[in-house]
Amino acid sequence: MSERRHLVLTGMMGAGKSVVGRECARVLDRPFVDTDALVEEQAGKPVPAIFAEDGEEAFRAHERSVIAEVAAREEPSVLAVGGGAVLDPDNASALREAGLVAWLTATSSTLAQRVGPDHDRPLLEGGDRAERLEALLRERTPVYAEVADVTVETEGRTVGEVVAEVVTALESAVERERA
Ligand code: S3P
Repeated sequence: MSERRHLVLTGMMGAGKSVVGRECARVLDRPFVDTDALVEEQAGKPVPAIFAEDGEEAFRAHERSVIAEVAAREEPSVLAVGGGAVLDPDNASALREAGLVAWLTATSSTLAQRVGPDHDRPLLEGGDRAERLEALLRERTPVYAEVADVTVETEGRTVGEVVAEVVTALESAVERERA
């Protein structure tokens, strides 16, 4: 099995992992995998219902098993992982071993704008969403920085610009591995 074959997108809720991931998958002609969607499939219910009925630990257990499974897939794919996934050291090392990890960044106010008012992110419920995002961003930044092979700014940039930078980073990494 070839090493480091996947492209992994990480970063906060609202960083653009799904939109950028889908487009990268199209450009690279690879399958796109959204780990939250696989967690929902495995649990048989949407993410907010998993948190509400079973708790965050149950969600994280589904997430760990989904990530172990997708990281091991042979076919080079584009993986968009939930914003909290890489906080788990086993997830982080499985993803780093299986692919190039790109961290999509944005400020907390941009993240807040992008996630909008929908109730599909349980960790943002019950408080000021921008403040919550700011606190999570502060807490998680050192972990994202540690896990990422490349950091890609999304602030003030189009999806096309972000995708171009991610794809170039992947191509350079492939070249380096070949050399
Ligand atoms: C989470 C991010 C969500 C989802 C869950 C927890 C997090 O995914 O996995 O609500 O801990 O940041 P997105 O980053 O795709 O919104």
